Amino acid sequence: MRFKIKRFDGEKSWFDAFEVRVKPHMSVLDGLFQIQDELDSSLAFRYSCRGGVCGSSAMLINKKHRLACRTQVSEIAGEWVISPFPLGTVAVPRIKTGDYILIEPLPNLPVIRDLIVDLAPFFDHYEYIRPWFEGNSSNPMQEAFMSQADIRKVDRYAACILCGLCYGTCPVSARDKDFLGPAALAKAWRFYADTRNRNTEEILKRVDLKMGIWACDEVYRCVEVCPKQVPPTNAITGFMRKAIVHKLKTILR
Ligand code: SF4
Ligand code: FES
Repeated sequence: MRFKIKRFDGEKSWFDAFEVRVKPHMSVLDGLFQIQDELDSSLAFRYSCRGGVCGSSAMLINKKHRLACRTQVSEIAGEWVISPFPLGTVAVPRIKTGDYILIEPLPNLPVIRDLIVDLAPFFDHYEYIRPWFEGNSSNPMQEAFMSQADIRKVDRYAACILCGLCYGTCPVSARDKDFLGPAALAKAWRFYADTRNRNTEEILKRVDLKMGIWACDEVYRCVEVCPKQVPPTNAITGFMRKAIVHKLKTILR
């Protein structure tokens, strides 16, 4: 199996092809290790947990946003993808990747080197929404309980591993770097919907912006690619309803 990989050295980008010995149950990340160990030690990529937990191995594999550690080579061999080589200005042909896997860095973020992107814009937006819990107890040492029903409301949003796949596929993040992005808004909802949190008004204020919830195209691409089944668009539409109710209440007060 050939791995066709987009390279970048800080100035120019190009594609390199490497022959990889495929083994049973081999992930795309395993293939990248083989290339780095045996063929080209300069190949740069990120990883940590190797098990879909840390979110580091997010990249574009056969033009789909995926975690390299959770993508089996056997499952994606022979997929139909859009060719990286357009036919002039006329068309971008779809090609069957019979004998190769196309690997590119995560879109919508600046590339530092090869498959490594600069996640600073992603984390700047994340930090802005204040992704932490502020308890309502006057005694911070006292445990704050939630009912099982309330836990279920935030659980799926708490599952986010900050991989950035949703950011990399979002059409709004692609055209406007000020957009807070799906992951930050989903995490904001996780803390907003937490019944123990006392700073919910501040969170709503931070996302109720032109470049916050109101910029979303609601095309659900973020929901499609999330490896943890977090639904950022649902969080955004939930915020929209809360923001409208909040405004009406303020007017009628
Ligand atoms: S919402 Fe999903 S895709 Fe987005 S950063 Fe979190 S885990 Fe990754
Ligand atoms: S290496 Fe941690 S998510 Fe892939």
